[in-house]
Amino acid sequence: MKILAIETSCDETSVSVLQDKKILSNIISSQLFHSEWGGVVPEIASREHIKNISIVCEEAIKTSGISKDEIELVCATSTPGLIGALLVGYSFAKSFALAKNIPFVPVNHIQAHLYSVFIENDFRFPFLGLIVSGGHTLLIQVDDFFKHKILGTTLDDAAGEAFDKGAKILGLGYPGGPIIDKLAKRGNKNFHSFPISKTESEFDFSFSGVKTSLLNYWNKQNKNSEQESVIKDVAASYQETISEMLFRKTIKAAEKFDIKTIGISGGVSANSRLREKFNSLSKSGYNILFPSLQYTIDNAAMIGFTGYLKFMNSENKNYFSTESFKEKPLARIEIKNF
Ligand SMILES: Nc1ncnc2c1ncn2[C@@H]1O[C@H](COP(=O)(O)OP(=O)(O)OP(=O)(O)O)[C@@H](O)[C@H]1O
Ligand SMILES: [Mg+2]
Repeated sequence: MKILAIETSCDETSVSVLQDKKILSNIISSQLFHSEWGGVVPEIASREHIKNISIVCEEAIKTSGISKDEIELVCATSTPGLIGALLVGYSFAKSFALAKNIPFVPVNHIQAHLYSVFIENDFRFPFLGLIVSGGHTLLIQVDDFFKHKILGTTLDDAAGEAFDKGAKILGLGYPGGPIIDKLAKRGNKNFHSFPISKTESEFDFSFSGVKTSLLNYWNKQNKNSEQESVIKDVAASYQETISEMLFRKTIKAAEKFDIKTIGISGGVSANSRLREKFNSLSKSGYNILFPSLQYTIDNAAMIGFTGYLKFMNSENKNYFSTESFKEKPLARIEIKNF
């Protein structure tokens, strides 16, 4: 089955072509200029998607080596995301499916991050999914395709947000995660001890404490020369605390529920220290799965991959027919629960 997939939930315009689960092309156009504003500006993001979507789509089809006429299934991100940005990709994808009278599969962006660990690895169930992105932090037990149980989530900031806000405090720019990761490689992770948060529910996360602690600590280092000399050590210590919090809770859940496969996904799963920590578990009999870097950030390949799984695992394929979708507005097909 040849698939066209579209992702426009935030500031990446991405289009991918797949043949079943195999990725033939995955074009990602990132709107880098949002860094000027210190974060994504929703209205500008939507307008840029409108400018880019056709160009990125043409490029993805050309790179895949198949023709537009061969596409048999269309998938697009339906939720969660910036509504204006989502509407661009979603409407484009749905129009494509309607014009060609082929099925259309709406895909939950977070589910797509979750399953992205299987793009290059064999499926294994049950598995524990840790999704760490710019807007979400979730620990999920997955017993089979689309049989999910949320074990924990963040009570305040998402892990990616903690990296971004931490970088802002340190005056490092946006997005902060990759900058902190790079700087921390030259720093001492044991330089300063930031607090590890405690939550009432054992698998929830909280990052606001560590962020405030960084702010207070950094404000005390009030001379520029002092800050300059320790910034890489502070970045390494901050990164260590965030990754340790994610690691500890995930391992605790893996032990409690006796799950040996752990898949870590989302933008923060690109973090080198987080990878190092989890990969060290391989020697203890765990099967640790990470997506390769191109599938950690927002990308349409994971949308097509998950849409295909959803379509193949669905008992009622008519649900995705163009007839069925003609009348369904975006808001009504949002998949709020896993
Ligand atoms: N190497 C890294 N280390 C830490 N964080 C990183 C790294 N690379 C990217 N990030 C973080 O990943 C986040 C972006 O991830 P992603 O694109 O998955 O999030 P999003 O799509 O904005 O949010 P969501 O998926 O929740 O809707 C940013 O917060 C960024 O700082
Ligand atoms: Mg994302």
